Amino acid sequence: MHLNCLLFIFSFIRLSGAQDVTTVRQISVQRGQSVVIPCLYNQKYTSSYKYLSAGYVWLLSDYVDFSDQRCHHKTVFVSDDTEGHIFTVRMDDVQESGSYWCAIHIPSAFDKRAGFFLDVTADSPRLHVTSQTVMGSENGSVTITCYHQGVQYGVKWCKFGGQCITGASGTLDGASVEIRHGLRNMTVSMSRLKKKNTGWYCCSTEDLQMPVHITVSQKKSRSAEGQQSPVTTATGQSSPRKRILPVCE
Ligand SMILES: *[C@@H]1O[C@H](CO)[C@@H](O)[C@H](O)[C@H]1NC(C)=O
Ligand SMILES: *[C@@H]1O[C@H](CO)[C@@H](O)[C@H](O)[C@H]1NC(C)=O
Repeated sequence: MHLNCLLFIFSFIRLSGAQDVTTVRQISVQRGQSVVIPCLYNQKYTSSYKYLSAGYVWLLSDYVDFSDQRCHHKTVFVSDDTEGHIFTVRMDDVQESGSYWCAIHIPSAFDKRAGFFLDVTADSPRLHVTSQTVMGSENGSVTITCYHQGVQYGVKWCKFGGQCITGASGTLDGASVEIRHGLRNMTVSMSRLKKKNTGWYCCSTEDLQMPVHITVSQKKSRSAEGQQSPVTTATGQSSPRKRILPVCE
């Protein structure tokens, strides 16, 4: 486990640098629960196949699911929002911790990817939200509470793959952000919402992220709550193996 962590960190450092794909670094989920993980990508890959692969070592990792549904996985679903340049990985009924890769297939070259670690817990996850989906209305506000374990180091609220609010207040893309810290929680209020604030955000600690999707609609709506987590990326520029997508069926 310790060695695994070290190796993971090592490969993370070795491969980071490019911003072709960005996702969470580590996410904590309770066994049997579901989670949605966004993978941001450079718009030049809009028409490429996206997929999730599993395995601690990229070169040895196995395909799990594809954005084009060529293979069906029972509990993992990859879908691609080509307008937002984000593909999402939904994992239901998670059972085992493990390393995964959000990846983009580049024909006749090396696939782009970002790795993350799924930490499956028996009890309450180390960083979580009530719901990863939050609805708000224009000029309105939403409130999200991120539950953590009383970590001393900074718990932050971030635009996914972007700027973070580290203090008690700030702005993200024109929306006002106010943050209150409890002993084991962080409550985030985002107000003066505009349609352009629709997107992925995350609660972030030093080692964990929990993504939350906020939808800002024009009509009035109720706010829901979200779950959490931020970000990060390990993209490879120098993968030694070209991949050929499998043909399923
Ligand atoms: C939001 O505020 C802007 C400017 O203050 C206003 O023009 C617009 O009508 C408001 N929209 C809603 C849905 O209240
Ligand atoms: C956050 O923690 C504080 C105690 O530090 C507690 O009073 C508050 O109710 C908690 N908020 C939520 C939403 O759980």
